[in-house]
Amino acid sequence: MTAGGLLAVSDLSRREFGSIVRRAVSIRRRGAGGMPLRGKTLAMIFNKPSTRTRASFEAGMAQLGGHALNLEPQSMQTSRGESAADTARTLSRYVDCIMARVYGHGEIEEMARHSSVPVINGLSNTHHPCQALADFATILDRKGRMDRLDIAWIGDGSNVCNSLIEACALAGSRIRVATPAGLEPDGRVVSAAGGSVELLRDPAEAAAGADVVATDTFSSMHSGSSRLKKLSPKYRVTEAIMSASAGDSIFLHCLPAKRGVEVDASVIDGPRSAVWDEAEYRLHAQKALLLYLLGRRERRRTPSRAADT
Ligand code: CP
Ligand code: NVA
Repeated sequence: MTAGGLLAVSDLSRREFGSIVRRAVSIRRRGAGGMPLRGKTLAMIFNKPSTRTRASFEAGMAQLGGHALNLEPQSMQTSRGESAADTARTLSRYVDCIMARVYGHGEIEEMARHSSVPVINGLSNTHHPCQALADFATILDRKGRMDRLDIAWIGDGSNVCNSLIEACALAGSRIRVATPAGLEPDGRVVSAAGGSVELLRDPAEAAAGADVVATDTFSSMHSGSSRLKKLSPKYRVTEAIMSASAGDSIFLHCLPAKRGVEVDASVIDGPRSAVWDEAEYRLHAQKALLLYLLGRRERRRTPSRAADT
């Protein structure tokens, strides 16, 4: 784990990943036990829109006894050119953890380099590690295990796809990714995942016998709608694609979804869809991650802060 935070799933060891995912399931079933983050503060910065990430981090901190501070970028000095580095240096003096949703992944890396508290990536153009933790918690809850599973990804090789590939490698599961040419997942992520990932063009081939079928919006916040032409309609998850998967397969989508574009309404609203559990698991997985990051060591105090207390 770099800088004591989570920028990509690959920052975690296999053991750390498994422990956070199992804890998320345990929190859903039995709660987190008391108010373990009493007195802790999380700063949240969203340079892009969010419903789930923002609400689940804020609700999660409150339910664990802590507090989340939502910093609106348009009213921060970053809007007038203050750097990510100076923002991180400053916030580190006030809070116990920083979560940011950014455009370029370099921006969150820059924050982590200059922060003395853990930094969590709440989505960058290339990674969405918190989503992958929630996805694997959903998978563990529904399938009873997270290893030896076949996962199919159909559509855009997006940030969510990259993080799911990294998660599959740590979980001991395989992932088949079907994308059009030019929309493959990140080459470095694919190389690092080795034999656990297979890149294909045909959605039905990726879905064949799969335990989980997953997709993402065709219009990511940083990429707009330019990918639609390449993806539609061939890569839409239809009932025909789902029927190529295993009889007890589940369907995942990080949301927000466009019915009739990347997935048929009858799939996302149908009996195999696990998307509402998946959305719920953002809350439990965020709690498990915060407990892991904030509970595992006393935060490094700066001399000025230590003197205050
Ligand atoms: N899945 C996800 O990250 O949702 P939000 O963009 O609403 O946070
Ligand atoms: N790939 C999408 C995920 C949204 C949660 C995006 O980056 O907009």
